[in-house]
Amino acid sequence: MKKNAGELGLKLFLRIFEIAPSAQNLFSFLKDSDVPLDQNPKLKPHAITVFVMVGESAVQLRKSGKITLKDSKLEDLGATHFKYGVVDEHFEVTKYALLETIKEAVPEMWSREMKRAWSVAYDQLKTAIKTEMKPPA
Ligand code: HEM
Repeated sequence: MKKNAGELGLKLFLRIFEIAPSAQNLFSFLKDSDVPLDQNPKLKPHAITVFVMVGESAVQLRKSGKITLKDSKLEDLGATHFKYGVVDEHFEVTKYALLETIKEAVPEMWSREMKRAWSVAYDQLKTAIKTEMKPPA
């Protein structure tokens, strides 16, 4: 999936916007753009980051039982998502869309265990970001 992260990440966000069209307003570069969503060059990097970071969290959880991100990186992530007004519901829709996207990417590997592993990884990463979601000091 990592090799295909660009395509899958994009698919993930197209799905998110299908379920929650208003989430597009969070992204400054989408709000004021006439370019079709799937061709917007700025959407892909965030989409890839989300996809890859959740995957890396899953690997870390298996290796060490916890996710490790530099404190400064986590602070930045918290501050950015706070600033752009990301709320619980966005994280929930994103989790649902992520699990669906993975299920479609590797149907032959999909199982209850795999769903659980990705859910746990996503929830831990989300919790870590949310604890840092506050106005800048
Ligand atoms: C920016 C990761 C979930 C909306 C970012 C950045 C990263 C990131 C690395 C750029 C960091 C920075 O500028 O400091 C993640 C991860 C997520 C996640 C790992 C889930 C675990 C979400 C969700 C939404 C969202 C659920 C809303 C649907 C945004 C927005 C920006 C952003 C609006 C700023 C983009 C811009 O206009 O430049 N995210 N994100 N993110 N994220 Fe997320």
